[in-house]
Amino acid sequence: MGGRVLTCVILAFLAVGAHCENVTDAPTTVVPNSNICKLCKCENNNVNCFDQSITTFFTKQEWEGLTDYKPKIVDLSENRFVNVTVIADLTIEVLNLSRCSIEFIENASFKDLQEMKVLDLSYNKLTTAKLSPHAFEGRFMPEEFEPLASLRTLNLAYNDLHSLHPDLFEHMPELEQLDLSGNPLTTIDHVTLIAISSLPMLKVLRLRSCQLDEIPSKFLHTPRYLERLDISDNLLTKVPQEIEEARDLVYLNLNQNPILQLDADDEDYPGFPRLRKLQELHMCNMPKLRRIGEGTLAGLESIQKLHMSFNPALSYVHPKALARVDDIGETYDWPMVKELYLQSNNLTEVDSRLLSRWDLLEKVDVSDNPYLCDCSTQWMVDILAATVEKRGGNATLMVCQEPIEMRGYTMKHLHDAHRTMRCVDKYGHRPEKDGAILLGTLIGVLLAVPIMLSLMLMWRRGYFACIGLRPPVDVSRAFYKRAPADDNIMY
Ligand SMILES: *[C@@H]1O[C@H](CO)[C@@H](O)[C@H](O)[C@H]1NC(C)=O
Ligand SMILES: *[C@@H]1O[C@H](CO)[C@@H](O)[C@H](O)[C@H]1NC(C)=O
Ligand SMILES: *[C@@H]1O[C@H](CO)[C@@H](O)[C@H](O)[C@H]1NC(C)=O
Ligand SMILES: *[C@@H]1O[C@H](CO)[C@@H](O)[C@H](O)[C@H]1NC(C)=O
Ligand SMILES: *[C@@H]1O[C@H](CO)[C@@H](O)[C@H](O)[C@H]1NC(C)=O
Ligand SMILES: *[C@@H]1O[C@H](CO)[C@@H](O)[C@H](O)[C@H]1NC(C)=O
Repeated sequence: MGGRVLTCVILAFLAVGAHCENVTDAPTTVVPNSNICKLCKCENNNVNCFDQSITTFFTKQEWEGLTDYKPKIVDLSENRFVNVTVIADLTIEVLNLSRCSIEFIENASFKDLQEMKVLDLSYNKLTTAKLSPHAFEGRFMPEEFEPLASLRTLNLAYNDLHSLHPDLFEHMPELEQLDLSGNPLTTIDHVTLIAISSLPMLKVLRLRSCQLDEIPSKFLHTPRYLERLDISDNLLTKVPQEIEEARDLVYLNLNQNPILQLDADDEDYPGFPRLRKLQELHMCNMPKLRRIGEGTLAGLESIQKLHMSFNPALSYVHPKALARVDDIGETYDWPMVKELYLQSNNLTEVDSRLLSRWDLLEKVDVSDNPYLCDCSTQWMVDILAATVEKRGGNATLMVCQEPIEMRGYTMKHLHDAHRTMRCVDKYGHRPEKDGAILLGTLIGVLLAVPIMLSLMLMWRRGYFACIGLRPPVDVSRAFYKRAPADDNIMY
């Protein structure tokens, strides 16, 4: 009886499920009767015009043909139109105009796209002079200034913007993600600063490859909810201290900047300011970085993912780089790092004091460094190599470079063989061998003195006369005789 009820319930569920499937599938069966869909692929509320050699933007009338189709994602990327003109009232959420040679966007082109969340204008030919704030005008609203109310993500990367119009973003007050990468900004000038400062809700900012040599103060003052900042591949020579204003920063990418070192005692190369929420830091591909000093990463108390790889000159990371003096000032606190990447640097060792809890690591890669394999790095063989293997890494790639007789040995092999490594000083000498030589010399000297003395004694007593060595006549004493008194006349 109960079984039958259950079966019925299951069948009912299946029927409902099937019915739902039919209902959701229904809109695709509406064949859009539009010019655009003859040229592009229209499916599942998407319009795919990718790489169709389109040379003229669609007219407002052509766009209107899509009204009943209710397009959500429109991909017009990789085409060849120069001008963008006004689009009809549509439900588009993502509009992709990337890689189209766009130079000019007509006033209020996107005005009726009130559901548009993402606008991708990357890899075009927009210039500071031609890109007007009016291009992004929205509909009139009594309380806000003609906003594009839904727009959250704007991609202007890889255009030709030297600077931004101060009002460029005035119609997108809720913008959360902005990509300006690959524009030749060189400096963040006053007007650009005003433009960025008009985005209080900004969470993600990308400024990769913008030829920036500094981050101006107050730059990150207004966007105070900023969580992710990418300033990689710029010309920064030091860790920009201005990022301290981004108190909510979770992710920071500083890759490919010509930073020489981090040194808490050197004004020119300061370490990181306090960034309490930062969880992920990237400092990779820095050709000049050679040294990370004491406490220079200590401000990153929540850091979980530390990427410091492919820095060919990085040969020193201070054992207390991450350690910060605790509030009482008595002991040190370390962040709970989960992912540590130090591969392909110039490190001769990974110090065991760099982290407090190596067992908490979930991912670790310290491969491809010129490791010194002696008693000072024994812990790497005993513990770190095992940790690496346990966390899916490959300790075979942790290879000894020095001393010469250890060259080529892998830490995996040394670990498996339970090798105990000898102590070697930094010049590659073996102190224990030096010790033996020293001891030998000492014994030699100690023995030589009495032997020489006895030989001298025997010689003076004439024991060696038989082999032609006479004992000394009392000549030598003459050297010590006073000079005759008359010599004093010379004075
Ligand atoms: C509805 O679903 C049933 C069964 O899954 C299928 O046979 C039928 O063709 C579907 N109808 C439509 C209009 O897709
Ligand atoms: C683009 O727009 C500008 C200004 O409206 C106009 O002068 C130019 O002819 C247009 N170019 C094309 C290819 O339509
Ligand atoms: C737009 O298209 C380009 C190239 O086709 C693609 O790389 C990019 O991810 C797309 N942008 C969005 C927001 O989907
Ligand atoms: C765009 O709008 C601005 C302000 O309304 C106006 O000054 C400008 O002439 C307009 N540009 C074009 C090309 O219509
Ligand atoms: C790597 O470090 C060694 C000394 O440990 C140094 O001689 C060498 O120049 C460094 N390599 C680079 C690329 O800086
Ligand atoms: C580790 O690296 C070595 C050398 O490249 C390779 O031969 C070996 O297959 C790797 N092991 C694993 C588990 O990936």
